Amino acid sequence: MNTNQPLSHPVEGDTLIATPGGALRGVVTPPGDKSISHRAIMLAALAEGASRVEHLLEGEDVLRTVAAFRAMGVAIERDTQGVYHIQGVGLDGLAEPEEVLEMGNSGTAMRLLAGVLASQPFFSILNGDASLRQRPMGRVITPLTQMGARILSRQQGRAPLVIQGGHLIPLEYQSPVASAQVKSAILLAAINTAGGSAVQEPQLSRDHTERMLTAFGAQVQRDGLRVWVEGWPTLVGQNLQVPGDISSAAFPLVAALLVPGSDILLQGVGVNPTRTGLLELLTAMGASIETTNPRQYGGEPVADLRVRHAPLKGICVPPELIAKTIDEFPIFFVAAALAEGETVLTEASELRVKESDRIHAMAVALGAIGAQVTEQADGLRIVGQPDGLAGAATVDSCTDHRVAMSLLVAGLCCRSPVTVLRCANINTSFPAFRQQMTALGASLTGGAS
Ligand code: S3P
Repeated sequence: MNTNQPLSHPVEGDTLIATPGGALRGVVTPPGDKSISHRAIMLAALAEGASRVEHLLEGEDVLRTVAAFRAMGVAIERDTQGVYHIQGVGLDGLAEPEEVLEMGNSGTAMRLLAGVLASQPFFSILNGDASLRQRPMGRVITPLTQMGARILSRQQGRAPLVIQGGHLIPLEYQSPVASAQVKSAILLAAINTAGGSAVQEPQLSRDHTERMLTAFGAQVQRDGLRVWVEGWPTLVGQNLQVPGDISSAAFPLVAALLVPGSDILLQGVGVNPTRTGLLELLTAMGASIETTNPRQYGGEPVADLRVRHAPLKGICVPPELIAKTIDEFPIFFVAAALAEGETVLTEASELRVKESDRIHAMAVALGAIGAQVTEQADGLRIVGQPDGLAGAATVDSCTDHRVAMSLLVAGLCCRSPVTVLRCANINTSFPAFRQQMTALGASLTGGAS
């Protein structure tokens, strides 16, 4: 794949059509969690000894992280069962990459790797696709520079990033944003820095890095919204099983809630409480979601979710749920557009700097298929139409995987088909999306690109 290709260039499978049909039924196992998969590769690479990772997400984003560590001399093999075997090189065993490290569409790969590379005594360059090169990197450049790293970027902290890593000093950082990527970049720099470092955030963001560092043997302490880590731990290789990604499960889950007669089971879904905001919001809206078979995979809570169709009511989103719902707002907006009454989201301007401006992208596309949506600076106001949306439109995903999947789910709840453009990036997080949705009974077909 050529990451410098213009994103508007059509590729095979780029246009998909959702045609409304019957109920969704069946059992699906969502793909491995994207956030946890990136961290599993990174910590396994930095550990001593071998690690084994099952159910790693084989989406383009995570494969960028795999490729980056291979380029820095880490042996990573995939066996015939799809299990990944990583031979850790230790905190000081990475080699200078000869080529630019291409991160594609992945903000997590770029920001977390910036944290890893900040303490490595070599030169590296991180680049991304057109979407990633527009996203703010100043939020990681600032704290990593305070630790002593030398990082150059384009204007306003945009990638490519040029990193001359080296010896760092510990940091006590008050993050202005609730961002797991910022927190994790600092923690990953801090583990290769003598002494203890801490990050305090305004709201608790996903805590997978903290959990996994603990599982690999690091000393991590949480005190409210502050997390502290001791430098130079001995990280020991682990056997990990990656939970199913709740952010991917969200698409069949909301589809089943919205399409009358549906009844599905989602198996092995990660239900870490820093990620379950969507379940809390939908339950408050009247959803029927049964959580069964609770278990743990390497310090991460996992459960099966049974979801049946239920009428939903609009809701005012409590701001304290925003961080734990952050990736699910596009699909949440679809649920709101089909709920009875009004839904209001405010204080969510972070959505404007995701893989696309998700407030604008969703407002435009939902409006085009007949939803009543008002775009606001920091959120959306939606008046739901429980009798269904008109559809019969061609809408643009803006190359954003979650916008694409959300609009395809919306299309299943319209009176006429919806054509969604620029869907190829679904492969970054959920390559089996079309196949799994089709297995449940949805009609998603390829259109002419
Ligand atoms: C992620 C953190 C979140 C999320 C992203 C994955 C992570 O981003 O939106 O999809 O794996 O740490 P922010 O840290 O920018 O909120």
